[in-house]
Amino acid sequence: MALWSKKPPVADFSDRIQHVAFIMDGNGRWAKRRGLPRKAGHAAGAEAFRRVIAYCHSLGIRTVTVYAFSTENWSRPQDEVAGIMQLLDRFMEEELRDADSRDMRVVFLGDKAALTRAQREKAEEIEQRTRNKSYCLNIALNYGGRDEIVHACNTLLATGKTAVDAADLSAAMYTAHSPDPDLVVRTGGDYRISNFLLWQSAYAEYYFTKTLWPDLKEKEIFHALKDFCHRHRRFGGLDPEDREEKTE
Ligand code: FPP
Repeated sequence: MALWSKKPPVADFSDRIQHVAFIMDGNGRWAKRRGLPRKAGHAAGAEAFRRVIAYCHSLGIRTVTVYAFSTENWSRPQDEVAGIMQLLDRFMEEELRDADSRDMRVVFLGDKAALTRAQREKAEEIEQRTRNKSYCLNIALNYGGRDEIVHACNTLLATGKTAVDAADLSAAMYTAHSPDPDLVVRTGGDYRISNFLLWQSAYAEYYFTKTLWPDLKEKEIFHALKDFCHRHRRFGGLDPEDREEKTE
């Protein structure tokens, strides 16, 4: 399936939403309900991933981040981890084949040291070859929010800095090239962040749904984006009408 949709856009969110991040939860339960191994759930999840990325692109969303594999996911059964890694390998192969024909920058967020040498080399080649594209897909792989903050602090300390500010830290994150997420969507029914984009989500809006990741369809994504557009983001400040009232 082509990663980018050729369908005409049904809406354009480009002026309101820069960055949407997804916690792709529920693959295991999707498989269990069908009497399938968990690996089959992740395979269905990888198909959903392609659909969702294509759809977000068709709506003009410049940056999409997905939580593919956390620093904690290594503790899952070996067979399951191998299944997810196979899906990622397949994605990397497709990317290496199609990188030049797509307008998509791909960046892997996380510590690449735990990947195999072949994966590391492919990931670096993909990042290098796509670095000048205008749309961006961040794949959090061996990623943890706390780990990222610690990594950023150590990167800054290594430069000799003795004091840092928020801008320094943002610039030292794996996501330095991306704006902070406007909206974080979590499928699978749990109401938690699970160590995802801890620093970057300070003012993000959240959309939680019971829908399992492989079942997430365009219609619900559209609903989540519309819902976001109706929210009042105050970033710790006040709405203009309330501000007037306060200063009177
Ligand atoms: C969480 O669901 C999902 C994961 C830990 C893996 C997500 C990986 C994919 C969707 C495949 C990624 C592939 C590419 C190409 C990016 P869970 O297993 O925790 O589900 P459960 O809560 O129902 O058990």
